[in-house]
Amino acid sequence: MACTVRCAYYPRVSPSPTFDTDPARLAQPFPADFTWGFAASAYQIEGAAAEDGRGPSIWDTFAHQPGAIVDGSTGDVACDHYHRYAEDVRLMADLGARAYRFSVSWPRVLPMGTDAVNERGLDFYQRLVDALLDAGVRPMINLFHWELPQALQDRGGFADPLAVGWFADYAALLASKLGDRVKDWMTFNEPACFAFLGHADGIHAPGLRDWPTAIRVADNQLRAHAVAAATIRGLVHDAKVGIAIDVNQVAPATDSERDRVAAARWSSARDAWFLDPLFGRGYPALGLEAHREAGHLEGVDLAEPPAGDLDYLGLNYYRRDSVSARSERAFDWEIGPVPGSTQTQMGWHIAPDGLTDTLVELNRAYAPPEIVVTENGAAYPDTLGEDGRVRDVARVDYLARHVAAVADALGAGVPVTGYYVWSLLDNYEWNFGFGRRFGLVHVDFASQRRTPKDSARWYQRLTARE
Ligand code: FCB
Repeated sequence: MACTVRCAYYPRVSPSPTFDTDPARLAQPFPADFTWGFAASAYQIEGAAAEDGRGPSIWDTFAHQPGAIVDGSTGDVACDHYHRYAEDVRLMADLGARAYRFSVSWPRVLPMGTDAVNERGLDFYQRLVDALLDAGVRPMINLFHWELPQALQDRGGFADPLAVGWFADYAALLASKLGDRVKDWMTFNEPACFAFLGHADGIHAPGLRDWPTAIRVADNQLRAHAVAAATIRGLVHDAKVGIAIDVNQVAPATDSERDRVAAARWSSARDAWFLDPLFGRGYPALGLEAHREAGHLEGVDLAEPPAGDLDYLGLNYYRRDSVSARSERAFDWEIGPVPGSTQTQMGWHIAPDGLTDTLVELNRAYAPPEIVVTENGAAYPDTLGEDGRVRDVARVDYLARHVAAVADALGAGVPVTGYYVWSLLDNYEWNFGFGRRFGLVHVDFASQRRTPKDSARWYQRLTARE
């Protein structure tokens, strides 16, 4: 995105050492109708992978491959949310959540991806939505958090243009069954992660390593988004439709021309690759040049994708990435945290000021009607004390700084309307398995016991509706 092209700042190595995390103070700048929520995704929490007629997704296949997941675990059981959703809804309501962003497991409702509907799977989401509404928590449905039915991968997956129609039919099913009660819709979560990590880097499902395939997948996601958005609007009265794009701050590692060019090209080839088309501008010139030079477009026929027609832009933000060029060649660069910076357990450089900058820049560059921070949070190796408490001081600090960063963006006139913490529960962190705890609620995966951490109590005070 453009702020990274400007490259006018140099990352501070770490945030200031002390920060006032008082939730009452931090809540002050936010309007009464600001949406405080939690975000989660189906494969990461539901479990019940083979229950009630659910079909396999590409994540089931991938996670079961030896060596694919750092700790060898799978999402077969995860947080057992499929059976414990009522308790989890009570928990989030108790913590003051006004909204809950969850994803639907496509193969749970359409085991083969198309045609035959699995009523028992659909019924789970009906019950979940009812429980949320009863608890006063607004549901936000995300249609795609990377769980493509394996049956559709076997037919070519998202690299096939037919995926646009498969996705539109799936969206129509959900919209027609749940649209009377659910008004907030999201088509895709982080299409860049799905396309690039799954089809070029091979570290996410379906585990492919082929750039032209990844580019086709990205293109079909953009097309599927547009068709699904129109489908949802046609079926759901008063629908709000958006998409979640992961935009972390991209910074050149040094002031050298080479690093600055690399950072600008990387952010264009990744972030603007989705943002520009969504806002009706087609693929960005700098990104096109980088992908072409790296050979990623070989054999790919790229036409301009349709605009996204967004009611809101979802922003998933976690960190600052620093880019250092190994040579002048496109994609011959290293991306990672600034050495010596303060990092979370993921090795992600904590940069709350980057959240303010990103919000301001997205608003300046694209002027979406609303921006919702649809994910933000931090992993730490939390432990449950003998007194039953999890003293996750570092997470409270992370969240407090990022909430303050959102307030700064609000103050600068950015129309931010919501903030969703990733996540309510410790859960299955994709290729890292269970070794990365992002929850505000601790989960003992052996007993499935939930214990709110100190950060949960902090969030409860932040969201308190006095
Ligand atoms: C995001 C994903 C989410 C979770 C967080 C930590 O990229 O959307 O599922 O893994 O990162």
